[in-house]
Amino acid sequence: MCGIVAYVGYRPALPVLLAGLRRLEYRGYDSAGVALVRPGWIERHRVAGPLDGLVRATRRVDASATTGIGHTRWATHGAPTVENAHPHIDCHGTWAVLHTGIIETHEALRARLRRRGHRFRSQTDTEVIAHLLEDAPSQDPPKAVAWATARLEGSFSLEIVSARDPGRVVAVRLGSPLVVGLGVGEQFIASDVPALLPFTRRVVYLEDAEQCEVTADGIRLERAGRRRRMRIETLRVGETEAERSGYPHFMLKEIHEQPEAVAAALQGRIDLARAQVRLTEKGYGRIDPRRVRRVVAIGCGTALHAALVAKRSIEGLARVPVDVVAASEFRYGEPVLGPGTVVLAISQSGETADTLAGVRLARASRRPVLAIVNVPGSALTREADAVLPMRAGLEIGVASTKAYTSQLVMALLLALDWGRQRGTLSPSAARALLKGLVSLPGALRRTLGLSGTIRRAAQRFAKGHHGNFMFVGRGYNFATAFEGALKLKEITYRHAEGYGAGEMKHGPLALVDARLPVVAVAVRDTVRAKIASNIEEIRARGGNLLVVGTEGDHALARRAGVFFGIPDLPEPLTPVVAVVPLQLFAYHLAVALGRDVDRPRNLAKSVTVE
Ligand code: G6P
Repeated sequence: MCGIVAYVGYRPALPVLLAGLRRLEYRGYDSAGVALVRPGWIERHRVAGPLDGLVRATRRVDASATTGIGHTRWATHGAPTVENAHPHIDCHGTWAVLHTGIIETHEALRARLRRRGHRFRSQTDTEVIAHLLEDAPSQDPPKAVAWATARLEGSFSLEIVSARDPGRVVAVRLGSPLVVGLGVGEQFIASDVPALLPFTRRVVYLEDAEQCEVTADGIRLERAGRRRRMRIETLRVGETEAERSGYPHFMLKEIHEQPEAVAAALQGRIDLARAQVRLTEKGYGRIDPRRVRRVVAIGCGTALHAALVAKRSIEGLARVPVDVVAASEFRYGEPVLGPGTVVLAISQSGETADTLAGVRLARASRRPVLAIVNVPGSALTREADAVLPMRAGLEIGVASTKAYTSQLVMALLLALDWGRQRGTLSPSAARALLKGLVSLPGALRRTLGLSGTIRRAAQRFAKGHHGNFMFVGRGYNFATAFEGALKLKEITYRHAEGYGAGEMKHGPLALVDARLPVVAVAVRDTVRAKIASNIEEIRARGGNLLVVGTEGDHALARRAGVFFGIPDLPEPLTPVVAVVPLQLFAYHLAVALGRDVDRPRNLAKSVTVE
């Protein structure tokens, strides 16, 4: 949610900032801006619209400034106009501030600052910080920033420069992620690691409520006025992970990376001989599955759909009851978290505000939090009691794909392990599933081979000008229908709904006519016959059917207008593969409709605000 970068060192700052912002565009792309610190003054460039405009606007800028900050915005307060684009400055142009997150108390602060004579030029919550800094008793940047942030409430991170101190950037983390990249004679700050990859692998993650002062020579971390020793970590990410590597979009690249991502999730975690799973990460061993009485699984968006599939596998294999709650509801609900409850938090970024709030609520109730998370070093990895890292690598496409399938695999490993430890899963049943897991990368590769067929089908549907789509599934693939609909909505802007196929006759069937494409997930599993009847009901009303089924299911293929066959797999594993044709269908439909797949309107990847 908003990408921010900062540079201080010996190189011209502008190209470093633009290169960093380019890699953070998935965090927001409705306006962009930079501030370059010149001796005694601050030079600002801002544009409405994506980063390309800023690149054009700064083509002839004098490149001598070696300190600067840059921002790519996902609007919260104020429309995406030039006036509302960051960085924001105070009345005299001494301070430049950019921010990601929300300042909750900005209205009261704005009113007070106005009464003191400050002139506001934007509708953003951010601008109050620049004017507050102007009023700080000490104008020394670290002191002024500490004074100002003590007067702010909300969840945010900030980067601030002052014309009085050109070689210094001050950053603050209060809820939204920030990471400092260490160089030699130069330092970088960013809201996310991809921005740092062209420059350094040595990083320090800021902790919550921490302020950081960065100069060319080094960094200084402070929390509540006390200095903290920094822990330097080395990123194990290849630079090309943040590149499209020949693919037209990150989303397509990530769809095609799923076999490798799943293989990485399984690496070293399967013991076929003993029919066991080996999970050894942080805190995992401290949760005894034999004492777990209930799981509450939370997440947002795609991760919430992964939680729905996790419910099915944990209940089916480990026989532990699982409730699934959207994190945004859980945090403001009155959840009953009795003894023996474990909260399972699922998140790609590990930074989603609602999920983190849910985790804090669980911890305040003294219930253990187990996290399935992708981004190493994220807030969730630090705050959860136990962590199962997904190892899917960087996911940049706003529409999540490989993170979803990896989340499903991690939930399966968890369910299998608990099933074995609780004695609800026999060694032979476990072995069959483990063998199935090992075969998943191959099954995914085979399914990706359908891309051409799916593209042609999507192109036909694009010509059909369909405004609505329906997705149906049952059993283990109940949530696959929701995820297929979400992908389609996110990137094609066409209306799509996911339903349990058995629920169709209780209302949604009224929508079915020859104009409505219905995508049914009907693989060979225990509910195959049931969903086949539901498909008949849709066919009888003239519905335009696309079916994701099992290869060789000719009976079903004959009944569908379009049929995508996936390899036969043990039932609990089918959701990992069945979603792939739906990802590809949404992708190719979006491309055929001329959508900006990696920058869907109004969305951003990491939702670090409520
Ligand atoms: C945003 C993204 C979704 C993602 C959701 C949860 O809405 O656009 O793709 O599923 O956040 O993100 P998380 O990082 O917690 O998995």
